[in-house]
Amino acid sequence: MCGIVGYIGGKQAQQVVVDGLARLEYRGYDSAGLALVVDGKLATAKKAGKLVNLRKVLEEEPPPASTIGLGHTRWATHGAPNDPNAHPHVDCGGRVAVIHNGIIENFAALKAGLLEKGHVFGSETDTEVVAHLLEEEVGAGHELPEAMRRVCRRLEGAYTLVAVDAQDPDVVVGARRNSPLVVGKGDGENFLASDVAAFIEHTRDAVELGQDQVVELRRDGVTVTDYEGRPAEVHEYHVDWDVSAAEKGGYDYFMLKEIAEQPRAVADTLLGRIGSDGRLHLDEMRITDQQLREIDKIIIIACGTSYHAGLIAKYAIEHWAGLPCEVEVASEFRYRDPILTRSTLVIAISQSGESMDTLMAVRHAREQKARVLCICNVNGSTMPRECDGVLYTHAGPEVGVAATKTFLTQLVAVYLIALYIAQVRGTKWGDEVFAMVQLLATMPEKVEKVLETMGPVRELARSLANERSVLFLGRHVGFPVALEGALKLKELAYMHAEGFAAGELKHGPIALIEEGLPVIVVVPPRAREVLHDKIVSNIQEIRARGARTIVIAEEGDDTVVPYSDTLIEVPAVPTLLQPLVATVPLQVFSCELATAKGHDVDQPRNLAKSVTVE
Ligand code: M6R
Repeated sequence: MCGIVGYIGGKQAQQVVVDGLARLEYRGYDSAGLALVVDGKLATAKKAGKLVNLRKVLEEEPPPASTIGLGHTRWATHGAPNDPNAHPHVDCGGRVAVIHNGIIENFAALKAGLLEKGHVFGSETDTEVVAHLLEEEVGAGHELPEAMRRVCRRLEGAYTLVAVDAQDPDVVVGARRNSPLVVGKGDGENFLASDVAAFIEHTRDAVELGQDQVVELRRDGVTVTDYEGRPAEVHEYHVDWDVSAAEKGGYDYFMLKEIAEQPRAVADTLLGRIGSDGRLHLDEMRITDQQLREIDKIIIIACGTSYHAGLIAKYAIEHWAGLPCEVEVASEFRYRDPILTRSTLVIAISQSGESMDTLMAVRHAREQKARVLCICNVNGSTMPRECDGVLYTHAGPEVGVAATKTFLTQLVAVYLIALYIAQVRGTKWGDEVFAMVQLLATMPEKVEKVLETMGPVRELARSLANERSVLFLGRHVGFPVALEGALKLKELAYMHAEGFAAGELKHGPIALIEEGLPVIVVVPPRAREVLHDKIVSNIQEIRARGARTIVIAEEGDDTVVPYSDTLIEVPAVPTLLQPLVATVPLQVFSCELATAKGHDVDQPRNLAKSVTVE
């Protein structure tokens, strides 16, 4: 939540900062703003709404040239999304400018103290206290880096801060507690950002900042300390994707591009993990085979779409690895008393590696001595660093707020983990694991095949653009697919959409069925006869009550034809792998329907891609 960019170098800071913000807009788009240091003064501009509004302001009143500055794109927490609450925030004298991602929990007490001292506030944000606290510190003669350290020692909560001092045109200072912040190291220039995407066109050399660190960015170097000023250890890395991956590449929306990239993303996530002997090699997980043998329970924690991947993982883990597996929404996990031991493996699934709910659940699990593994898409993010092990998905950067390709790659990752545990613990014969791995390897072409047949799904979506509600039904792994379909439709089309386990229907939800209500049903493969036949009965039950049935079934499944108002065929695959092909039509459906309603599918209202506050 909130995108942050800081720059110091030889280029025009305004351009670098605004271009960086454009790549971070997925993190929040309630307002945008920037501050530049110009001849001992600050030049600031900020505007409510998307970045385009700030661009207009900058066109109408271009600020003076500057080679040092910072910028922010906001997802509002404290204070309405209006101009005064937009970042940057400045102190009383207009000397210090600050941008912030996170929540300063003790801001009310700090603000009261500052008001008593006569500071004047111009916004309702928690962030502004930092500007005034820095004002006091630089006013007392401390240089900005030391001022920041002194201020951070007084702050509670989760935050990333970046500040400039008009009287020091040679330094940008950042601080990090919990919320993400990375450094981009250039030649005679350096960058700070919430995500490498902001500076990827300038440099691919990055530095990951740790907890409670302050970074001092100068044109010729970067210094990182802890809050006491002691030199801190940092992790440097090279970003393995380039600027083209973070661009739309001719598509109208990132989401469309990301849906289309799924075959490659699935293939990349499998790459290098299947040995020539057909055995799985997941050494990077950093959890030994012996440790895996000692596990007696798995708990999966995640939010949103990642939680749906977790629900599917449960079926795979219990079936292949023979271990009990619980799945829980991360935001609930640490507020009950989960029973965790050294033999519990907790798997955190997070695309961003930054979701605060999941991060807090990870910390709680580690405090209880459980081993924690994460499935993550973003190298350099917080969760992989804090977990015992990590399995990266190789989806590449996902910019659209709605998760698509990262969901499919999370599924690949959970299948790999489940099969790997089965291989290590011997719960499946080697040849059974091998056969399933071979099938997994065919999934990129199967997903490609689904994408090639999406014309009728788009047409259907456009025809339903004026509906008020859509229901989704599934059984077994089709149930989480139904939940995911409903989530996509809610977040993109702002429509009432709900996913149900088809068996639950008669326990209440069937009352929702009325004449013409679109109901999308995910039908398991015919090979799972009992499941399959039960859902075919469910389709008949809802149809008898007037529902308009939209059925997703494997190709050649004639049994569903008589009960389907619309039939969407997907390639035949084993039941556990079906979510990889059955989810794709639902993504395309929601994207097209939302577009037909005139929505910006990359930036749905009220949302941000990384939810870095609880
Ligand atoms: O980065 P994470 O995977 O931890 O994010 C979790 C959810 O916030 C995320 O999946 C969200 O539900 C997406 N917008 C869904 O499309």
